[in-house]
Amino acid sequence: MAEQQPKKKLILNAFSMQTPGHMNPGVYKSPKDKGSEYNNLDTWIDLAKKLEAAKFHAIFFADVLGGYDVYKGPANLHPTIPAGAQFPLIDPLYSIPALAAATKSISFGVTASTTYDPPYGHARRFSTVDHLTKGRVGWNIVTSYLESAARNFGLDTQIEHDERYRIADEYLHVVYKLWEGSWRDDAVRSREDQLAGLGYADPNLVRQINHVGKYFKVPGPHTAEPSPQRTPFVLQAGTSTAGKKFAAQHAEAIFLNGHSPELVRPSVDSIRQQATEAGRDPQSIKIIAGANITLGETDEAAQARFAEIQQYADPEGALALFGGWTGYDLSKYADDQDFRFVEAPAVRGMVNHWAATVPGKNDVKWDKRTIAEYLLLGGNGTHLVGSPKSVADELERWVEIADVDGFNLSAATLPGTFDDIIEFLLPELRRRGLFWDDYAVPGGTMRENYYATKGRTRLPDDHTGAQYKWKAGEENQKFLAAEQK
Ligand SMILES: Cc1cc2nc3c(=O)[nH]c(=O)nc-3n(C[C@H](O)[C@H](O)[C@H](O)COP(=O)(O)O)c2cc1C
Repeated sequence: MAEQQPKKKLILNAFSMQTPGHMNPGVYKSPKDKGSEYNNLDTWIDLAKKLEAAKFHAIFFADVLGGYDVYKGPANLHPTIPAGAQFPLIDPLYSIPALAAATKSISFGVTASTTYDPPYGHARRFSTVDHLTKGRVGWNIVTSYLESAARNFGLDTQIEHDERYRIADEYLHVVYKLWEGSWRDDAVRSREDQLAGLGYADPNLVRQINHVGKYFKVPGPHTAEPSPQRTPFVLQAGTSTAGKKFAAQHAEAIFLNGHSPELVRPSVDSIRQQATEAGRDPQSIKIIAGANITLGETDEAAQARFAEIQQYADPEGALALFGGWTGYDLSKYADDQDFRFVEAPAVRGMVNHWAATVPGKNDVKWDKRTIAEYLLLGGNGTHLVGSPKSVADELERWVEIADVDGFNLSAATLPGTFDDIIEFLLPELRRRGLFWDDYAVPGGTMRENYYATKGRTRLPDDHTGAQYKWKAGEENQKFLAAEQK
């Protein structure tokens, strides 16, 4: 009998946001949901501890820099605010050191925008958190998509999409220089040398980066001494051509949303192919698919549970989210408009994609009501509703067909969705050899645990940012001569 290959162990993240309704507008009204306690640090500490006990890899916090104000707009938050649809929201970065203090091994992905946060301050904030978490922070790089964010940062409208990625690319080179190349690895003196009066660090081993590019001018040096990971673990979610190219250059983990593994596979292949062309190990890019999971003892019980939670959800909030994600205001269309045939090509394409891939929704009319209903819980990721066995079968199918490495699990109720996953799904995944029993590196960095490799704390040498590393013993030459980006 042929020996069975060991199965790929899944990476599991909890996907959340510090807001009443992340992917579940209105559900904060459910007695089982803690969305309305998003601004209480204990909510996140309790969640982090619970997820760490279950050995989740990370909690990943989304963030945006304005309101979803397109629906019934322009600039109207009336449908958004009552639903708590990603508004109000607070900056997730501040909570991370507190979550790290309450845990040891779980990591934290935090979203920050290359379009609105200048690179010097950003590099400093993330180095700070990398120090305070002992290397357990990741950066979800976004270029941002909300018009309201552009206006909040003084622009009349958003910078053009591909231009945002060009800015992001230079931004990354600036922060790599600060993180990897401004301080030599051995710049800070040993305690012994410090006590002997040699000084805190060797000033010859701390240098300016003198970055002068098309978009940024940053002399440095970096204010923070080298933190455990230097560059925080790099996450990204780009689906456009420019987004995938950027991801292939920079990302160590990529988030993808989709409804069928067959349709996600070409994107996965294209990213891995582009990474190979960029000289990187294609398997070193971890691909994480979005999923919203509702469990029950049986498939029928799970469906009933889903319907029960859905009662609390707010369709107006869902349409507000749709408006922000796409820029399209569906209130401008008649209630009976079938968006599979609408003249706006972007909406038509998206809705036809859903119609083709969402189970049980091929033949229905995709009007506003259907779109809202579809987006009420879990947004635009795949929705898996069923018994632990059915859901585990489906996750396995995703890994096999789409070649994904793990899942980003959003909550229908917080923390109810995660409680159910921990109690019912993880034992099933473990029985199948699909999920680890413990962190590969307890107390380790995010990079070590994502790659399940002790000692893999820094960017690998085939990564774009590694060209700026200033290693112990190296002359202060290479970096200054490095091509300016
Ligand atoms: C799982 C997931 C999480 C995301 N989180 C955020 C976020 O927190 N903030 C944000 O501005 N964009 C977020 N995005 C949007 C992406 O950054 C990106 O704008 C989107 O995937 C479209 O990619 P494109 O610009 O290459 O077309 C997320 C996307 C996905 C799939």
